[in-house]
Amino acid sequence: MRRTRTRIAVVLAGTAALATAIGLASTAQAATTLGASAADKGRYFGTAVANYKLSDATYSGILDREFNMITPENEMKWDATEPNQGQFSYGSADAIVAHANAHGQRMRGHALAWYSQQPGWAQNMSGTALRNAMVNHITNVAGHYKGKIYAWDVVNEAFADGGSGGRRDSNLQRTGNDWIEVAFQTARAADPGAKLCYNDYNTDGINAKSTGVYNMVKDFKSRGVPIDCVGFQSHINSGSPLTSDYQANLQRFADLGVDVQITELDIAYSGTQQASAYATVTKACLAVSRCTGITVWGIRDSDSWRSSDNPLLFDGNGNKKAAYTSTLDALNGGSTSSPPPVSTSPSRSTSPSPSTSPSNPGGGQGCTATTSVNQWQGGFVVTVRVTAGSTINGWTVGLALPSGATVTNSWNVTRSGNNWSNVSYNGHVNAGQYTEFGFQGTGTAGTLTPTCSGS
Ligand code: G3I
Repeated sequence: MRRTRTRIAVVLAGTAALATAIGLASTAQAATTLGASAADKGRYFGTAVANYKLSDATYSGILDREFNMITPENEMKWDATEPNQGQFSYGSADAIVAHANAHGQRMRGHALAWYSQQPGWAQNMSGTALRNAMVNHITNVAGHYKGKIYAWDVVNEAFADGGSGGRRDSNLQRTGNDWIEVAFQTARAADPGAKLCYNDYNTDGINAKSTGVYNMVKDFKSRGVPIDCVGFQSHINSGSPLTSDYQANLQRFADLGVDVQITELDIAYSGTQQASAYATVTKACLAVSRCTGITVWGIRDSDSWRSSDNPLLFDGNGNKKAAYTSTLDALNGGSTSSPPPVSTSPSRSTSPSPSTSPSNPGGGQGCTATTSVNQWQGGFVVTVRVTAGSTINGWTVGLALPSGATVTNSWNVTRSGNNWSNVSYNGHVNAGQYTEFGFQGTGTAGTLTPTCSGS
């Protein structure tokens, strides 16, 4: 199952066309929504979504205006997707994915293997039967959503609270300490294009629990266990407050060669203290180049799993709170450097670092295209970023693959031979902003030289 992976991170290089695009981005008026402002900084801004709320016009109106990443709050969990062993149920989760596709939003998948929210039949299992059930579950669910998920929380909350820094006891843990790496290997085989994350809470500062996770990630990287990212839930409250080492903790994980993401942010403070804490978290993400985005755990305070704490960015009526404004301001006033590449090699790494190759930005009227290639033996995933120099309403990327390379599936794009064009929801790109599409294939992607033409 173990495979040798070579990640080729393609870094944006300075062509005149691209410099023009970035120049426009930095001088353009600050964006006015969380998603657009985060995109200006090369990040996403997401929220947890409950499928049954999508018919609420206020809810979906805010969702589609402000957010460009979605995590299903409960709909992709084990109890929801496999209520009876071997019988998979994707209706609610599929509806969220369809909503995301229709509105140009990407998806975080949550969560493949977790001690909690297991269906009753799995709760009663142990040993080899449970291990096999977990593998079958991951294979089916990650396989069902193959090509549609930006990042999966493969394993959720596997470490114990308190000072031990060790694993949490659970039926999964009792199947053997290697259950986490088996889960990651299984997820990689099922959806090679998804980033694979470990996700936990109370790991938001430097403490015994986060150090336990840190040591696991370091070990995984040194042994080639596939892990791409670590999620920091960041359920902040007086019992689990925001600490001054929040950014340093993100950075130490990034230095291991993984992306970091803030995955379930909510802050149970009030008034200016809450607004200030949201700004601090946002600035911390912007300051860590491998922090790829922030997700809040719900839209309005009334949508929160702990609604009495009013921990979110919109009040129960959908009005923007002070915390919303401070978050948006932090996004707009954060790093003024150009967006980081989709994938970068760490500046310091204690594990095998990905190799990099020069970028191949291609420019034509109105847009430039750059590629990021994730190559492994026999297969690859290519992510193509289309950046608009001036506002465009459609684009076509010219991109030829070497002989022997075959595309098996693609997303956010329509293809005609070597021409890759926008679909209905991602043709309009404002000046200085970008959209991304991708495809998966067999063989070797090689060095790609995309061109871009906007209309
Ligand atoms: O849908 C049923 C409803 O039919 C029933 O009447 C009602 C009775 O209790 O329950 C409803 O389901 C609830 C579900 O949320 C949907 O609202 C479950 O009981 C409740 O347990 C479930 O809570 C979720 C919780 O995870 C479960 O662990 C929260 O919505 C969800 O926000 C929360 O999310 C977790 C992340 O997955 C992991 N990190 C922590 C985070 C917050 O706890």
